[in-house]
Amino acid sequence: MNTLDAIKARRSVRGFTDKQIGDADLDAILFAGGQAAVGGADFKSLKLYAVQDPELLKAIDEASAKRRPGSHPLYGAPTLVVLASKESILPSIEFTNAGCVIENMMLAATDLGIDSIYLWMSMYGINDDPDIIAKLGFPEGYTCVGTMALGYATKEFPKLKADEQRIEVTVIK
Ligand SMILES: Cc1cc2nc3c(=O)[nH]c(=O)nc-3n(C[C@H](O)[C@H](O)[C@H](O)COP(=O)(O)O)c2cc1C
Repeated sequence: MNTLDAIKARRSVRGFTDKQIGDADLDAILFAGGQAAVGGADFKSLKLYAVQDPELLKAIDEASAKRRPGSHPLYGAPTLVVLASKESILPSIEFTNAGCVIENMMLAATDLGIDSIYLWMSMYGINDDPDIIAKLGFPEGYTCVGTMALGYATKEFPKLKADEQRIEVTVIK
């Protein structure tokens, strides 16, 4: 799949089957994350974790649902990638780095036929729960700055305005 096709094919999936993704695919997706543009090339400020332990996924799902009781913010995904960051050498750049790293991984997943979604809600669930942070093993000074669920969709999810520009554009020549 070429890059533009992957960009068009990616869409957020909000329901996953139990089928786990393969280890080689997970490695390729995490590698893509490490190839992202990162401000100041401060790669040391970032750490990636891939969670496939059902108990830890359940704990993150429950902790993340506290702001919306009854919901399942991980949508049943069998893999959750967690990006942690400490303060970067460039102040306040952490969430921008997260966007680049996670978008790279979502596009790599699309290329491999794996469904994904960028998840903000689970970031709160992780950061609010010291037990979860301990289980993930963040070093001192690191917090979660973004997460991404991976797996296989339970059904086709509609693409939002897939064939048209979704952001207003101005070209100045
Ligand atoms: C930074 C960020 C955080 C997001 N967090 C969530 C989330 O917590 N839950 C969710 O269902 N979707 C989340 N999304 C997905 C967006 O809702 C989705 O990208 C948007 O609706 C556009 O749809 P598309 O991804 O299918 O193109 C997030 C997206 C981004 C970029």
